[in-house]
Amino acid sequence: MPDQHRTWWKEAVIYQIYPMSFMDSNNDGIGDLPGLMSKLDYLQYLGIDALWITPVYDSPNDDNGYDVRDYLSIAPQFGTMKDMETLIEELHSRGIRLIMDWVLNHSSDEHEWFEKACLSKDNPYHDYYIFQRHENGPPCNWRSMFGGSVWQYVEKLQEYYLHLYSRKMPDLNWENPEMRQAVYDMMLWWINKGVDGYRLDSLATLAKDTSFPNVPSSKEDGLGWGGRYFLNRSPVHEYLKEMNERVFSSRDVMTVGETGFISPEDALKYAGYERKELDTVFQFEIFDRILGTGDITEPASIPPAVLKQVFTLWQEKLQDKAWNTLFLENHDLPRSVSLMGDDGLYRELSAKALATLLLTLQGTPYIFQGQEIGMTNVNYSRIDSYRDIRTFSIYDQLKKRKNLSEEEIMKVIHQRSRDNARSPMQWNDSVYAGFSKQKPWISLNANYSSINVENEMGNPNSILHYYRDLIRLRKNYPDLVYGSFVPSVSSNEDVFTYCRHGKEYDFFIALNLGKKEQDLENHEQGKNYKPLIGNYSDFIGKDNSEKIRPYEARVFIKKR
Ligand code: GLC
Ligand code: CA
Repeated sequence: MPDQHRTWWKEAVIYQIYPMSFMDSNNDGIGDLPGLMSKLDYLQYLGIDALWITPVYDSPNDDNGYDVRDYLSIAPQFGTMKDMETLIEELHSRGIRLIMDWVLNHSSDEHEWFEKACLSKDNPYHDYYIFQRHENGPPCNWRSMFGGSVWQYVEKLQEYYLHLYSRKMPDLNWENPEMRQAVYDMMLWWINKGVDGYRLDSLATLAKDTSFPNVPSSKEDGLGWGGRYFLNRSPVHEYLKEMNERVFSSRDVMTVGETGFISPEDALKYAGYERKELDTVFQFEIFDRILGTGDITEPASIPPAVLKQVFTLWQEKLQDKAWNTLFLENHDLPRSVSLMGDDGLYRELSAKALATLLLTLQGTPYIFQGQEIGMTNVNYSRIDSYRDIRTFSIYDQLKKRKNLSEEEIMKVIHQRSRDNARSPMQWNDSVYAGFSKQKPWISLNANYSSINVENEMGNPNSILHYYRDLIRLRKNYPDLVYGSFVPSVSSNEDVFTYCRHGKEYDFFIALNLGKKEQDLENHEQGKNYKPLIGNYSDFIGKDNSEKIRPYEARVFIKKR
């Protein structure tokens, strides 16, 4: 049975923008809102329905804007509030919606609330954060996502405050109802400005075990360790129910929560249709399995078998109960073509195969800037070319291990750094790739002279054109959005085959996610299906091949 309940955000294809790296209008080397606005024709050409932009609020930029100093103003590097208002207007006049990023778990230590919180224990804002008094050393041994203890001592108060991320990002105290209401009021302020949705940052960590137990065994260089005491704990659902009731329920605003390390069962608690909490969540299982566990020096690449297994699991578990989100990239992850495709010989084919996966499953697809032209990981040769706080903390952790050479450490950074996704958007082959006329805040990927938007637009067989075609298909066939997911067994590890069953149409999708030609043992394609789209130019008209070539993607259609 196809999903019956239609909403705009189920039908939308969402494009994620990291504004610092998208387009610079005033040539200071940093992307900004007017720059973003100058590219709206391009976004419309691509065919997307909504933008998610990462934080543009005023911030000291310890974590590129995820450390918010003032939620109600725009960081000068990005422009003005007037620019923001114009952006919302411009987007709406083109029928594009805007999803803002909201940081819930923490603020900047330069936020007015935190400055007041540090004045004295009696200050009402003191209880907006999580302070603990402890006699000998930090209250417990949890470690921050960015390395080191989660506790920072404040001499004046003789207390520690908790920060799951950097020292400059103190955690907010969600147990405090006044703090919660103050957050809701600010969210409503933006909704009144015309914002259409929220991506809720680091959502699963809001409720901490405030007895602060020590984690039993010690593992020196684990990042973000201690998670069982702050991830997915039940009070978070009370907060979300309240937020839903006070902020979202009576407005047409969509929500997507960032929830790392969750199971499908957890996801149903956050986003189940009956739960009245969130519309959707981002789950990271393919990444958690490879990047989130084991030794950080192990090679980071996601094999086809994991993609196949994890996507099948989530499609099946959420069907009819909650709506999936689909993404292969974001600003915290390596580039998908490098991580799960092949960024050498098969770059184009594998980028298109991954695009096919992303846009033919059930759920709302997100495309991260540059993904649509097959941008690859950056591989800067020196650590000082990197800008990301988490990258430096990985580097420092690895430096402490005596057995690793600089070269080995850089290999880990190349594979895992969040800056892989943050190098400037590659618009054309001019100096600085058309992103700016000034040296950008972060280096370009050396391959911009061949991989760029202008080239992709000019080549009808490009990755960009293929994305556009797939996006258009989703518009033309609501069954591709709502149709149910039915796996179609293939014993070959590299081959992922499935059907989508809609009201009017059925689809059969066959993907080879590996480098070798394989037998296509599945004969769905023979059963009256007609070729619809594929990434090898001779596919149309050759509908019955029993071989599937390296990174080949085929989509078939038939009327029910
Ligand atoms: C989320 C963001 C990431 C940020 C972190 C702390 O994971 O995506 O970029 O560093 O939250 O706000
Ligand atoms: Ca700028």
